[in-house]
Amino acid sequence: MADAINDLLQLRFDDAPQNVPDAPDAGLWQTIANHQSCRSYTDTPLSPGLVQQLCALALSSPTKSDLQQRDIIIVSDPEKRATINGLFPDSPWIADAPVFLVFCGNNRRLRQIHERHGHPFENDHLDAFFNAAVDAGIALSAFVLAADAAGLGTCPISTIRDHLDTVNELLGLPDWVFPVAGMTLGWPGRSPRINLRLPLAATVHTDSYNEDTQWGAIEAYDSRRAELRPYGAQRDPDRFGTRDPYTWSEDKARQYAEPQRTDFGAYVRKKGFDLR
Ligand SMILES: Cc1cc2nc3c(=O)[nH]c(=O)nc-3n(C[C@H](O)[C@H](O)[C@H](O)COP(=O)(O)O)c2cc1C
Repeated sequence: MADAINDLLQLRFDDAPQNVPDAPDAGLWQTIANHQSCRSYTDTPLSPGLVQQLCALALSSPTKSDLQQRDIIIVSDPEKRATINGLFPDSPWIADAPVFLVFCGNNRRLRQIHERHGHPFENDHLDAFFNAAVDAGIALSAFVLAADAAGLGTCPISTIRDHLDTVNELLGLPDWVFPVAGMTLGWPGRSPRINLRLPLAATVHTDSYNEDTQWGAIEAYDSRRAELRPYGAQRDPDRFGTRDPYTWSEDKARQYAEPQRTDFGAYVRKKGFDLR
C-alpha cells in the first residue's frame, strides 16, 4: 500500500517525499493521493440514503469555533435540475450527473441564534463572511474524499457563481446564506486521470514564506505537465496567440486576464454582509 501511495504522490508532485511509512489506515491516504475530479457519469442512480450519508461525512469535518456555518442543498426537483443543467451547456457532466448539490456558507443561523438569545451580534465584518466560506469549503473537500472512498466521482462547480441571481432564487437562499460551489456526484463513466500539482518546493515553506525556489519549481512543473497532461485546447488564441508548449502557467495567466464574477462582492453585500 505504501508503494502505491508513494507512486501516486510522486506522479502528482515530482518532488513528493520518498518512502513514507504506512499510515495506520493507509487506505485513506491512498484515497486522498488518488483524488481526481470526475467529468463523466453513468446514469446509475444513487440511493437518497447514500447521498445523506456523504452529507453526514462531509459535515463531520472541522468547523470554525464549532459554529457550523455551512449547509448542503441537494437539488432533486427535476425542474430545478433542468434549470441548473441549462446554465452550463459547455459543462455536459453537470447534466449527466445523477446528483447535484450546492455547498453554501451560512452566517444566518448564527445571527438568528443571537437574536433568539437576545445577545448582540458584534462581528459584522469580513470575518463573518470568510469563516462561513471556509467552513463550506472544508465540508466540500470532505464530501469529495468521502465520495472518492466509495468509488464515486465528484466535480465541484464554482461556475454556479456565474449565475448568482438564478441560483439564489432557484434555491431560495435568504440573507447571509450564499453559494460557495455546486457539486456533481455519480458513478464514474470515463475514468478520470490524476492531475499534477505544483512541486512542494513551491507550495510548502518552512519557518517563513519563501519564493526562492518558486520560478524553478513552476518552470519544472510547466514542462512536466505539458508533457504528461497537455491541454486539449489553448485558451482564447485570437487574443493571446498559440504557444508550444502550452503550459499551465500560461493557461492560468490567460484565464484571469478575463474578468470573472465581478458582481460577487455586490451580491455578498446585498446578502447583508458588511465586508469591512
Ligand atoms: C472550489 C472549487 C470549484 C471548482 N469549480 C469547477 C467548475 O466550475 N467546473 C469544473 O469543471 N471543475 C471545477 N473544479 C474542479 C477543479 O478544476 C479541479 O479540482 C482541478 O482542476 C484539479 O483537478 P483534480 O481535482 O482532478 O485534481 C472546482 C474545484 C474546486 C475546489
